[in-house]
Amino acid sequence: MNIAVIGTGYVGLVTGVALSEIGHTVTCIDVDPKKIAKLNQGIPTIYEPGLSEMMLNNQQRGRLHFTDQHRVGLADADVVYLAVGTPQRADGSADLQYIEQAALDVAGHIRRSAIIVIKSTVPVGTNLRIKQLMLDHLHPGVTIRIASNPEFLREGSAIHDTFHGDRIIIGTEDKDTASVLESMNKPFGIPVIKTDIASSEMIKYASNAFLATKISFINEIANLCEKLGANVEEVAKGMGLDHRIGSSFLRAGIGYGGSCFPKDTNALVQLAGNHHHDFNLLKSVIEVNNHQRRLLIEKMLGRFGSLTGKKVAVLGLAFKPNTDDLRESPALVLIPELARLGAEIVCYDPIAADQGTKWINVSAQYTENVADALKDADCALIITDWPDIKRMDPKTYGRLMRQAIVFDGRNCYSIPQARAARMEYYSIGRPDVV
Ligand code: UGA
Repeated sequence: MNIAVIGTGYVGLVTGVALSEIGHTVTCIDVDPKKIAKLNQGIPTIYEPGLSEMMLNNQQRGRLHFTDQHRVGLADADVVYLAVGTPQRADGSADLQYIEQAALDVAGHIRRSAIIVIKSTVPVGTNLRIKQLMLDHLHPGVTIRIASNPEFLREGSAIHDTFHGDRIIIGTEDKDTASVLESMNKPFGIPVIKTDIASSEMIKYASNAFLATKISFINEIANLCEKLGANVEEVAKGMGLDHRIGSSFLRAGIGYGGSCFPKDTNALVQLAGNHHHDFNLLKSVIEVNNHQRRLLIEKMLGRFGSLTGKKVAVLGLAFKPNTDDLRESPALVLIPELARLGAEIVCYDPIAADQGTKWINVSAQYTENVADALKDADCALIITDWPDIKRMDPKTYGRLMRQAIVFDGRNCYSIPQARAARMEYYSIGRPDVV
């Protein structure tokens, strides 16, 4: 199949590369010529394990192309994926201007009939509105069919998830379109669920909202565990063994971040509100998450009284490991708050430090390695559970810092490990080690 993908962000680029990997001829189109120039040199514009090799390999085989010219990229397309961002507006709703523009760009340039597949996360009802928008702008004789095909990949394991996902959802208005897309996706070897468009759109939001709910739920249990002397890891393990509950997404911490959960939960609350449905449960999930992000600052103030002049080593900036993405990372809340409280801040992140300097507008120092960040610090604050932080010998804290006081938002070390290292250790939902 000849496929065009509009947008070379996380979803678009991974989708394009993966579709070329299973044998399709793919052209990725982006309006940003700088991005396209980089991609044409074989350099991915995002950090994603495994992406670079797969991209280069398919470019060399002549199956994967990049262009900023819609006319060129759409010339032979049988299927066109729309994979542009749907960021959050100030009121929490999804901003659809980019997908509308992408749809208009496609409508203005396609000269042959095609299936339009919407990968972007969009509120229920958007696919059909996009279809109408395109119908109003197509060249005479060109017909389109529309499909909703939401994305479930996680940043940092996007390539793995694309080839090992649990399901591919295809929402269409007719069986024929669904069959074409089903056979196109067959080489992925992942179960395909065919459904109607509105349900497909809803599956995406409901899935993300449910996972966010699981996280906020376990975080609330964690906060209660701290008060009652229980250990949330033991509780999550015991709960997760019940297959109806499942063990994933029960890791307590400083709350969920990233470009999806915060945005999609807010958008679903908005969407519900627009239809006179008060989604109280999801509102609480969001509220719990906002509070969770600040917990460690409260613990630090409880320990030190004041943070003025205290040197704080911040370990990890990204919203989770294996990504340089800082969007909605707890770091964006915690670091400015530390600065406001007068702390001296030294940050370490193995790959997101550059992003940190761009996104965090307070005075902070950035170091190349953990040791430089910890040197002479009064306390450490762990925001991201990077493998090199998790694997580090906990005795390192005592060796390098003024005093081994660690506030861990990701429960990187076990309580016995912390005791053995003689750390003063405050984590989430587990007994403090003092
Ligand atoms: C999430 C979903 O997992 C994907 O299925 C979905 O496709 C994607 O959003 C999207 O809509 O595009 P992602 O945001 O990349 O993927 O990251 P996750 O691995 O799901 O983690 C999200 C946040 O939850 C992170 O901040 C992570 O630290 C936190 N988390 C996750 C926890 O605090 N506890 C957990 O047990 C799991």
